[in-house]
Amino acid sequence: MDKIVIQGGNRLVGEVTVSGAKNAVLPLMAASLLVDGWNTITNVPKLRDIETFKILLNHLGSEIASDSPEGTLKIRTKDVASPEAPYELVKTMRAAVLVLGPLVSRFKRARVSLPGGCAIGARPIDLHIKGLRQMGADIAIESGYVEVKANKLKGAKIYMDTITVTGTENLMLAAVHADGMTTLENAALEPEVVCLADALNQMGAHISGAGTDTIRIEGVKELRPVNVRVIPDRIEAGTFMVASAMTRGNVLIKDCPYNYLDSLNQKLKETGAEVNQEENGVRVIGDWPIRSIDVKTIPYPGFPTDMQAQIMSMMTIASGLSVITETVFENRFMHVSELKRMGADITVDGRCAVVRGVKRLSGAPLMATDLRASASLILAGLVAEGKTEVSRIYHLDRGYENIEKKLKALGAKIERTKE
Ligand code: EPZ
Repeated sequence: MDKIVIQGGNRLVGEVTVSGAKNAVLPLMAASLLVDGWNTITNVPKLRDIETFKILLNHLGSEIASDSPEGTLKIRTKDVASPEAPYELVKTMRAAVLVLGPLVSRFKRARVSLPGGCAIGARPIDLHIKGLRQMGADIAIESGYVEVKANKLKGAKIYMDTITVTGTENLMLAAVHADGMTTLENAALEPEVVCLADALNQMGAHISGAGTDTIRIEGVKELRPVNVRVIPDRIEAGTFMVASAMTRGNVLIKDCPYNYLDSLNQKLKETGAEVNQEENGVRVIGDWPIRSIDVKTIPYPGFPTDMQAQIMSMMTIASGLSVITETVFENRFMHVSELKRMGADITVDGRCAVVRGVKRLSGAPLMATDLRASASLILAGLVAEGKTEVSRIYHLDRGYENIEKKLKALGAKIERTKE
């Protein structure tokens, strides 16, 4: 297994380009199951989750061509031998449940493993299932799998009890061929949901309201293959913005989706950093001392839960006390114990973490526990005194394309080595 070794203390200076968004690519890959022609997706990053999703689509019977130019993915699904997403794949990547909607919509049946727990929380899929049942699907749950059958789904008015991005996406994917109109109320507003809806409309679907809390999908008979470019990854962009701010850096983040990051932009400015939109990106200039701020994660367009660990890293060396509240997931503070090993002063009480800024962190051997926690440990290593080693970075590779190369190009002393 690989690990990342960092000698802290360097300011980040220069330019970095944001890759395509993992959480936009995955639902687009699932959408390719809806048509039997070649679907083309461009600006696809090299990430572990995308490789896992390719394995799943191959298992279902899709043909996949990763063509040049770099980052182009072509997928064709003429038929599926068995519409089943096995536990071995779903347990490593919860987003595999996104095949449920398209399989039922086009092939009238699906057998998908329940995802089971995830490091950051229970993350059930009861709302995905409830919506499909409301659309007339026969659903059975047995031996850890959900079996769904539906000759023809019918439009329904579905209220999502909790805002769920993949829940919204899965039901959108199910509804495109349903009889009549499906309305998703309390739908997720994330840009990745909008990216999927735009692609489905290019394929011939009739979807309106994406980006608002009420999405309407009018079922259509046929869809055609599409060539779609993936939006930039707002969480990768945000991670680099925080990296520049906390290292007193001066970094231009190119292809940065500035408009998707309003809450982070605002919060970084409250810390004293400069966040300026320029012609081809966003420039973040760090200030010192860093001012402590309070942060509460809520669904989009609120402060993203996927940026909570990263902003916490920054607050460990801020000049006061910061209260960070995680409202989306029940167990997303696993980076705290690792940060405390570096000398951070953090107290967790339920969904709240109180961070008292310290003068400096000291490098230490650390262990990554989940995707965004591993990013926060890398950020802490950039500012810590001495050497930091982060192991189990396969978590990091799920969602960041060549992060050590990008950071090294900005002046960080960082290497990937073998454990
Ligand atoms: C998406 O997950 C992202 N993943 C997550 O990114 C992100 O953290 C999350 O949205 C929140 O922004 C993808 O898009 C692939 P959930 P999503 O499991 O929507 C409750 C990353 O780092 N819930 O639906 O699938 C659940 O318990 C990942 O890239 C139900 O109760 O998140 C949680 O409290 C991590 N019942 C909340 O909704 C359901 O049926 C959201 O969790 C579904 C969800």
